[in-house]
Amino acid sequence: MRAVDIIMNKRAGKELSREEIGFLIGGYVAGEIPDYQVSAWAMAVFFQGMSPAETAVLTELMLKSGNTMDLSGISGPFVDKHSTGGVGDKTSLILAPIVAALGIKDPMMSGRALGHTGGTLDKLDAIPGYRTSLDIAEFRRILAKDGFAMTGQTKDIVPADRLLYALRDVTGTVESVPLITASILSKKVAEGADALVFDVKFGSGAFMKDAADGEKLARSLVDTGTAMGKRIIALLTDMNEPLGNMMGNFLEVEESLDCLEGKGAADLMEVTLELAARMVVLGGKAKDAAEGRRLCEDALASGKPRDLFLANIVSQGGDVKKFLDLRGTYRSPVSAEIRAEKSGFLSRIDAWKVGHAGVDLGVGRNRTEDAVSPTAGIQFHRKGGHSIAAGDLIMSVWARDEAGLAAALPQLRDAVEYAETETPARRLILKEIQS
Ligand code: URA
Repeated sequence: MRAVDIIMNKRAGKELSREEIGFLIGGYVAGEIPDYQVSAWAMAVFFQGMSPAETAVLTELMLKSGNTMDLSGISGPFVDKHSTGGVGDKTSLILAPIVAALGIKDPMMSGRALGHTGGTLDKLDAIPGYRTSLDIAEFRRILAKDGFAMTGQTKDIVPADRLLYALRDVTGTVESVPLITASILSKKVAEGADALVFDVKFGSGAFMKDAADGEKLARSLVDTGTAMGKRIIALLTDMNEPLGNMMGNFLEVEESLDCLEGKGAADLMEVTLELAARMVVLGGKAKDAAEGRRLCEDALASGKPRDLFLANIVSQGGDVKKFLDLRGTYRSPVSAEIRAEKSGFLSRIDAWKVGHAGVDLGVGRNRTEDAVSPTAGIQFHRKGGHSIAAGDLIMSVWARDEAGLAAALPQLRDAVEYAETETPARRLILKEIQS
């Protein structure tokens, strides 16, 4: 078998066999097939797609390229949530302690910010002392004790994805439904959850720009995951505006705690609670999403999720006292404000432009090796749907340095969309997709 024939078969739109996919993935991980051939194959997949059967085989072979997390000996149910990536999306930090309070274990393996989207690990790293690189024994111990544990992927979990994702990121082949499906599902199946909730985002700040493409990705995740023996629910959610009132690493941890104290922004709470409700259903604690949501709301009102959130900070080496002392003040000294340029209505703050400005501010990164700032970010004082008067404060902005601030400000001004009349409220959750 030769890699070039596999590339040409895919370029011609043919369905690849298990042997062909295995030859390519196995050869790539072993260092026998070079980046340039795998890039050409990924581009062929980008244009020609893959059948559901090919996608399932690719996912399974990527999963088998490494180890899986052993959760035996810990009592479940194990349910996790995964978002396809957004701006201001801190739902993981809020829902993990909520579902843990209801007896569900969430073994959460997360990623770092890349491009315009934020990363859970960078947010948690902003908590003084918090360790996001746990070994397997620690991960298991904390999961059993707190009901959830947060870590990055170990190097032996799905090595094929680590290589392939980095390659796709620099070859314009990220936005492919089968490649995203295999990338996400191989990692999520490896982490050991019995059931998964996917938050598939569509809109300017998401990989999938329109709802129809988002739905294709959701359907592919549900069908492939179900074929692999997992119970899956996907929600298709709007990512045209940043979620919540904060974007930034420490800022988003702070906002998560606000949510757990009953002071969350309406859009953020809506998406978080609807996702958490599905986790509760899949964990067998509620018969439907409505009951799941009621249980999540009752848990929140009890204060237990807040206690678990703080307990997890301690378990993962963080300094809770310092974290609470920094609340409201841990901001970069380089700052500016964005004020309304005219009176009328604010129809939207564009998530895509905010996400890109965030990289300049120091919240995110363009290359995996770049460092991020814990204290850079944005607080949104107004978002889409508000009436405004010229001069009203729309955003407080904090940057790592003056150059970053100067690069971000024009993009942030441009992100604010004005209207003369009130725009209808966006539907945050468009659809639920299950097998
Ligand atoms: N997130 C992933 O983990 N993989 C992708 O391909 C896209 C988003």
